[in-house]
Amino acid sequence: MHNPFDLSGKTAIVTGANTGLGQGIAVALARAGAAIVAVGRSAMTETERLCREAGARFHGVEADLATLAPIERIVDEGARFGGRIDVLVNNAGVIRRADAIDFTEADWDAVMNVNLKSAFFLSQAAARRMLADGQGGKIINIASLLSFQGGIRIASYTASKSGLAGLTRLLACEWAGKGINVNAIAPGYFVTNNTQALREDPKRSAEILGRIPAGRWGDPADLGGAAVFLASSASDYVHGIVLPVDGGWLAR
Ligand SMILES: NC(=O)c1ccc[n+]([C@@H]2O[C@H](COP(=O)([O-])OP(=O)(O)OC[C@H]3O[C@@H](n4cnc5c(N)ncnc54)[C@H](OP(=O)(O)O)[C@@H]3O)[C@@H](O)[C@H]2O)c1
Repeated sequence: MHNPFDLSGKTAIVTGANTGLGQGIAVALARAGAAIVAVGRSAMTETERLCREAGARFHGVEADLATLAPIERIVDEGARFGGRIDVLVNNAGVIRRADAIDFTEADWDAVMNVNLKSAFFLSQAAARRMLADGQGGKIINIASLLSFQGGIRIASYTASKSGLAGLTRLLACEWAGKGINVNAIAPGYFVTNNTQALREDPKRSAEILGRIPAGRWGDPADLGGAAVFLASSASDYVHGIVLPVDGGWLAR
């Protein structure tokens, strides 16, 4: 029987795949049958092992997404390895914490460049490939609860993730009719490097946990199902959504 979630024969680029949510997504896509192109500035050793254990082909691309310099090389290498690019997951992201009154231009640019600018231009480069052979594809942006909420002490992060949600809708409007699905996932509070400072602050940590209806922080594996759904033909008529995977946080 046809399985609409099967990714056999597909190639997925995942940025920031060495750790955290990117690793969880890469492994989930690998388990669903996709070949993985893992992009990032750190060694992909553990992700490579986990993807290969899942039976997937794997290719690592060393790239620092703080600038646009590696963008063409990433899609070139991805297409050469996979034959074509079927899925792009814009997961790489950074966060900087400071009161808005003291927030620096450096902390603004560092976050906006990776979280928003590189995500847009990598989407553009991948979409050009997806459109060139007429087969379309799937683009998944990793947004945040800060795509919906304000947060505190993370001005550039909130701006970047709110921007990414808007960009997801814009790209969906432009490319839905051309066979490319652009959607986003908004993870809630997950145990990764990104949230280390929050988890080490006993007061904030307890406040956050007390607001999560599921009663626990997310584990990177919790994102896998949403990623496979949005990467697969099961979501062919889904465009421009920002899908929360948040243990019920936004329902509260
Ligand atoms: N954890 C959460 O609760 C949560 C919630 C909502 C959204 N998110 C989003 O989920 C995504 C993944 O974050 P995470 O929680 O898994 O945090 P993480 O463990 O800090 O992972 C971030 C990833 O992005 C990569 N990255 C950062 N800057 C980069 C650059 N200049 N070039 C290439 N790669 C770069 C990191 O590589 P290095 O390891 O080399 O730094 C790492 O692979 C981010 O977009 C984050 O905003 C996380």
